[in-house]
Amino acid sequence: MAAPTNRAAWLRELNMPLEVGPAEMGKPGPNEVLIKNRAVAMNPVDWMMQYGTFPAGPLPRILGNDVAGDIVEVGEGVTQFAKGQRVLAHCIGLATNESKYGAFQEYAVVPTVGCCVIPDGMKYEDACVLPLAISTASIGLFHEERMGLTTPMDPMEKSQPEEAILVWGGSSSVGSAAIQLAVATKYRVVTTASPRNFDLCRKLGASEVFDHTSPGIVGDLTAGLQKWACRGAFDAIATRDTQLNAAQVLAELGGGGMAVVLAPIKELPATVEARGIYAVSILQQDEALGKAIYRDFLPRALEQGLIKPAPPSDVVEHGVEHIQVAVDKLRAGVSGSKVVVTL
Ligand SMILES: NC(=O)c1ccc[n+]([C@@H]2O[C@H](COP(=O)([O-])OP(=O)(O)OC[C@H]3O[C@@H](n4cnc5c(N)ncnc54)[C@H](OP(=O)(O)O)[C@@H]3O)[C@@H](O)[C@H]2O)c1
Repeated sequence: MAAPTNRAAWLRELNMPLEVGPAEMGKPGPNEVLIKNRAVAMNPVDWMMQYGTFPAGPLPRILGNDVAGDIVEVGEGVTQFAKGQRVLAHCIGLATNESKYGAFQEYAVVPTVGCCVIPDGMKYEDACVLPLAISTASIGLFHEERMGLTTPMDPMEKSQPEEAILVWGGSSSVGSAAIQLAVATKYRVVTTASPRNFDLCRKLGASEVFDHTSPGIVGDLTAGLQKWACRGAFDAIATRDTQLNAAQVLAELGGGGMAVVLAPIKELPATVEARGIYAVSILQQDEALGKAIYRDFLPRALEQGLIKPAPPSDVVEHGVEHIQVAVDKLRAGVSGSKVVVTL
């Protein structure tokens, strides 16, 4: 039988369409596995890198952060995973600038620390919406220098939820993951979304959802959170306005820590300590947290339905040829959905 070959959607030049062409078959190193990708999800940083609003690093390169697929080879020292397992994984091409680690190809190498077996009944196109959002939300919620919440490893040991957090942007990918992780850890979540996404946020476990376009949003959120002890805020959108509004809510409640998915702005109230997030750190500098989430918590949480793939996947097409269309669809804007290509 002929050896399998690999094809990728290459970014060769900024502002130019991704080009489909051959790519080397990646070789997994120690603590890495090679995945036959079955579905990939789009993220804002993909189009930002393609169109020059986030540093793209050396070109040509293969973009993409989110995959689900089958393990076809394991690297040296890998005992936790085996060939043939169905997994989701957070790809690290963004951090390494090495093409074998990008998601937008038929086979990708991923570190085992960001890899998790998915339940038998879960489709690849659903599973792939999770990894980058889970990593981002985990750093923001649980890292001691961000919100520093109790981690979800033993959520049943916590008593009834009396503490709450604010998640700004609950219908976004990162916001959906933040709601679910916080709820799984027994925190109450008060969140924002457009009214069409209220049900999505409630199904993910949010206690209260408010319309972020309402002029009274700061007062609504403050009143909503006042019922519990507020443990901080997670801004999953991080425009200037969302940061100012989320920080204002926290300040009204006495101040606290705020995790922000982009760089924190300078002009926030003095009682609010805002910190940025770098998701890939969960697979590198903060590997202990990565293991706690991807190895100790997520497999069981997926099995038990504590964490569900969300927001729902919007499968654009099948094949690496269609990744450009999918990137552009996300760039045009989405509401409560994740753009996905099956492979
Ligand atoms: N730091 C990191 O490592 C890291 C990692 C991943 C992502 N990010 C960043 O995190 C941000 C979110 O990424 P994502 O993939 O989660 O985005 P996304 O799913 O594409 O976001 C779309 C959602 O944003 C919501 N939204 C837009 N403006 C809003 C506002 N003013 N208030 C509340 N919700 C608003 C929309 O909600 P409605 O339709 O309900 O209005 C929509 O559902 C991006 O800037 C991304 O670059 C950072």
